Amino acid sequence: MGKGAGFAKAILFGEHFVVQGAHALGASLSKEIRVKISPAEKLSLNIETGTIVPEASRAILSSFSLPANYRIEVEADIPSGAGLGWSAAYSVALSRAAAEEKGISPGWREIARHAYEGEKVFHGNPSGIDNTLSSQRGVVLFRRNEEPLSVELAEPLRVVVADSGKTGPTKELVAGVSLLKDEKPQYFSDLMEREEELVMDAKRALEQGNIPLLGRLMNRNQEYLRQIGVSSPELEGLIEVFRDEGALGAKLTGAGGGGCAIALLKSKKDASAILQRIDKNHLIFEAQIG
Ligand code: PMV
Repeated sequence: MGKGAGFAKAILFGEHFVVQGAHALGASLSKEIRVKISPAEKLSLNIETGTIVPEASRAILSSFSLPANYRIEVEADIPSGAGLGWSAAYSVALSRAAAEEKGISPGWREIARHAYEGEKVFHGNPSGIDNTLSSQRGVVLFRRNEEPLSVELAEPLRVVVADSGKTGPTKELVAGVSLLKDEKPQYFSDLMEREEELVMDAKRALEQGNIPLLGRLMNRNQEYLRQIGVSSPELEGLIEVFRDEGALGAKLTGAGGGGCAIALLKSKKDASAILQRIDKNHLIFEAQIG
């Protein structure tokens, strides 16, 4: 028997560009996925899935040298395909449960490394940001193959996250951006350069508490995401409502194509106006980051 949890996450700046080697900034959220495992005759899950979750689970169990003979019970605060890191939070939760089953207590970096084995199955070419954010608390500056850096915020951020109601196929969207990079190398490298500068400006703004600048940087980041083709009409609709209702900035978060958008707020009043205008059938929540 073993149990564990992984955090949902929000990418604040740099999704997709991070896959290609740029820096990105993200944060864990207080929403979680919890997993319990118990020995069984064969691998089974209490949720409806295709083949990919069992396959990713096998990869994680095998990275702990455990056989794939477990009943896995999953409890999730977030939907999958919403850009909130379902696959990473699941991979981290299962890694923690597997560690408990083995009677070991690895640190978060080690957990993130095991979870990456699951992420590779889910996403093909993951940057590693999601499993890093899901395995510990706080805001992190991340770059592929480098040690993640914790970022100290001068003041907490107030955000609203809302689901567009359409799922975003991360693997295909990431592959589509790679294709764009191959077909239009100059166009893409110019955008990468601008995104890298933007992420570094955002890190300074977080450390200095320059919230209005952060909002403007979010808007510019959304423009770059549009230019690489990962936004969607549903996401644009949400972003328009966020901006109409006084958000300082708004963008998609995660892989896009659907999934969630995130808005940066000035005050509590902004959130109530936004909450009133968004379709309550879809996931929507306020969060404090930092
Ligand atoms: O949509 P999500 O939660 O899987 O986020 C993916 C983030 C990407 O930058 C698009 C991919 C990655 O591996 O970094």
